Amino acid sequence: MSIPDGGTATAQIHAGYEPQAPHRPVTVPLYQSAAYEFPDYESARRMFALKEAGFTYTRTGNPTVAVLEQRVAALEGGTGALATATGQAAVAVALLALVRGGQHLVASSKLYGGTVDLLTDTFGDFGIEVSFADPADAGAWAAAVRPQTRAFLTEAIGNPLATLQDLPAIAAVAHGAGVPLVVDNTLATPVLYRPLELGADVVVHSATKFLGGHGTSLAGLVVDGGRFDFSAYPEKWPQLTRPKRRYGGDTLWERHGRGAYLALARSKYLHDLGPSLSPYNAAQVLQGLETLDIRVARHGENTREVADFLAGHPAVAAVHHPSVPGHLQASLAARDFPRGTGSVFSFDLAADPAEVGPFIDRLRLFKLVANVGDTRSLVAHPAAMTHCRLSPRQRAAAGIGEATIRLSIGLESAADLVADLARALDPLTATLPASGAPAAVVNA
Ligand SMILES: Cc1ncc(COP(=O)(O)O)c(C=O)c1O
Repeated sequence: MSIPDGGTATAQIHAGYEPQAPHRPVTVPLYQSAAYEFPDYESARRMFALKEAGFTYTRTGNPTVAVLEQRVAALEGGTGALATATGQAAVAVALLALVRGGQHLVASSKLYGGTVDLLTDTFGDFGIEVSFADPADAGAWAAAVRPQTRAFLTEAIGNPLATLQDLPAIAAVAHGAGVPLVVDNTLATPVLYRPLELGADVVVHSATKFLGGHGTSLAGLVVDGGRFDFSAYPEKWPQLTRPKRRYGGDTLWERHGRGAYLALARSKYLHDLGPSLSPYNAAQVLQGLETLDIRVARHGENTREVADFLAGHPAVAAVHHPSVPGHLQASLAARDFPRGTGSVFSFDLAADPAEVGPFIDRLRLFKLVANVGDTRSLVAHPAAMTHCRLSPRQRAAAGIGEATIRLSIGLESAADLVADLARALDPLTATLPASGAPAAVVNA
């Protein structure tokens, strides 16, 4: 993979911003303004008719937010980006611009629980149908395609089991079916993985996690690779290829070409539904981004130590992190993730599920929190928390058991993290069968 080290480090600090006269502020100014004075009436008329670019109202664009959009687009190698209030909104807007009632999408069976809620419940209400496919089996994605399919969705590193997939193989199936592949790159970040280089068409992020990195602000991003040719299948994408009164009788494709997808997401879904990012939160994420590659490297080093410790502990039945020797996806990790597979993963306790609560309550440094990608180390119980609304069947397909525990490894000293886990795990060893504790097995 071709992530130029210097390129990432430079882009995360500089992309999308040039200090402007008269003051030339060296950091990105926070434009905390709801709206913008038009220079004259004719400009206002043209901007509202979407014939002239410019900021009209912060619901559809803001100068601070725009820097964040350009910076993340640069980091992902995309042609443009759209910021949203949350990662959840980014997933929703990215998909709503592609699929509508009566249509269908294929999604990974190993997704963040909030995304599963969105797809099965809210999209279900809208009449959008979803088939879930095993990300390890590209053939299952091909088998799930229908004439009404309009998008594929997966996560670069699945939440919570750190599941990987052969993305070029899934992209080939999507493109064979004439639909774009949307990849949620939240847990990998562009430091570890660049989905657009591996065949994805759209990347989404919860910037709440590693991009912001400090657990202070919710934010989301949709990044367009600009390569998917919607005009090749005009009947599938009337929202982009048919004249619309809203756009003065033009088609978005005529007006924006390969920028049409993001133009639709912004001018319709951000405008009509209003899940816009606040400039203050954009400034927080911009500040976090400046240290992204350093943080991700340290998160990864700590994770390797913690995962090794867990894999050798008798009270642990399985460690779901591709860095652990013998993991089923080790070769995929070596091929596509030369810098590591992130710092959010799960492990299974070799104990009765009733021990999960007491184990979590014995932890001191790991905070029991429904978040990941913070500087602090966090713990969660997916079956009772993030993935509690999945049916037992969906949870089984996602590989989440009652004794599965998710960790997000922070930036503290690795020795302190290991000591905290040891203190909470050691009492469980006494509860294991006398015949000997089960060896920690590693799998996907
Ligand atoms: C992979 C992934 N995508 C999307 C989201 C939703 O992001 P947000 O909480 O910013 O709405 C999350 C949240 O945990 C996530 O883990």
